[in-house]
Amino acid sequence: MKQRVTTVSWNHGALKILDQTLLPDKVAYVSCTKLSQVHEAIRKLRVRGAPAIGVCAAWGVYLGLHKSKAKSAKQFINELNRVTAYLATSRPTAVNLFWALDRMTRQALKYPAYSPNELKEILFNEAAHIAKEDSDLCDRIGKFGEKLFRHGDTVLTHCNAGSLATAGSGTALSPIYAAKARGKKIKVFADETRPLLQGARLTAWELMQNGVPVTVICDNMAGSVMAKGKINKIIVGADRIAANGDTANKIGTYPVAVLAKYHNIPFYVAAPSSTFDFAIPDGGHIPIEERHADEVRRGFGKLTTPENVDVHNPAFDVTPNELITAIVTDQGVFYPPFTRTLKKIKNENH
Ligand code: MRU
Repeated sequence: MKQRVTTVSWNHGALKILDQTLLPDKVAYVSCTKLSQVHEAIRKLRVRGAPAIGVCAAWGVYLGLHKSKAKSAKQFINELNRVTAYLATSRPTAVNLFWALDRMTRQALKYPAYSPNELKEILFNEAAHIAKEDSDLCDRIGKFGEKLFRHGDTVLTHCNAGSLATAGSGTALSPIYAAKARGKKIKVFADETRPLLQGARLTAWELMQNGVPVTVICDNMAGSVMAKGKINKIIVGADRIAANGDTANKIGTYPVAVLAKYHNIPFYVAAPSSTFDFAIPDGGHIPIEERHADEVRRGFGKLTTPENVDVHNPAFDVTPNELITAIVTDQGVFYPPFTRTLKKIKNENH
């Protein structure tokens, strides 16, 4: 990748977050000094994409405790539990959020004899470690996924699962950047991704920044573009993958997978090990976030439906495993039957 903006970083006592609600108009950052600002940034999608949410939550835990006046490890852990419980209410679907909160907690619990100041340092190091690790996982996804792509491929993606959604080169887009670095010419079609336009605003922006040819289509054009033979591969990210490979991702992913099956186009999911939830057997157990009706009624300021009309606005859908050709992870590319093959993936919860 030529250029990468940093989505989340610790900066002189504050959490600096790229405000993705302003893209592609403006590259601007919010500086969070209070835990409520981190919660708001996640809820309002200033920071979004499952891995970036996880990294942000890890830093959020540190932010919420770095000025703690706790007198003992026990008091400190009580505060930690309050901070993680609060951040856990920011968004429900991306498992990386809960994964990161658990990981921060587990790390602190390893040192019951430490002072609160020592525990603060432990939390700082763990958040920095989670961020660095996420970047490494993206690179590994790129390395494994790149082999699936050939010179001349035209690839459809949905939502944004690129560098903006992670602390590194992305998940679904990482193999495309890696393929480009190896001299393969790949073109991308980006679904605009109603209602919040992550494809049009974010994927198109970051691909253009990185010199990857990209064409934006409205979501309802994907079928006809496939029927015309213009797309030969599809790759998307994931917010949570169940033990059987069922995958929650941005709303509209499931119909793309159905269309892919009909048109005989390989449909790949790319995700780091932190996105797998082996505690749930299938996608029916994934909580799906319902967002505010105004995102549909007046998404970017203009009223586009009758005022107060009823709206259904789920932020994610679940693609059943039988529609997925392969899942690209930092630990290799996994093929069906996923219930068996995914057992090889190692993460803290497995
Ligand atoms: O609502 P968002 O923008 O957080 O949704 C993001 C997605 O659905 C991404 O595809 C997913 O989190 C994977 S990001 C690497």
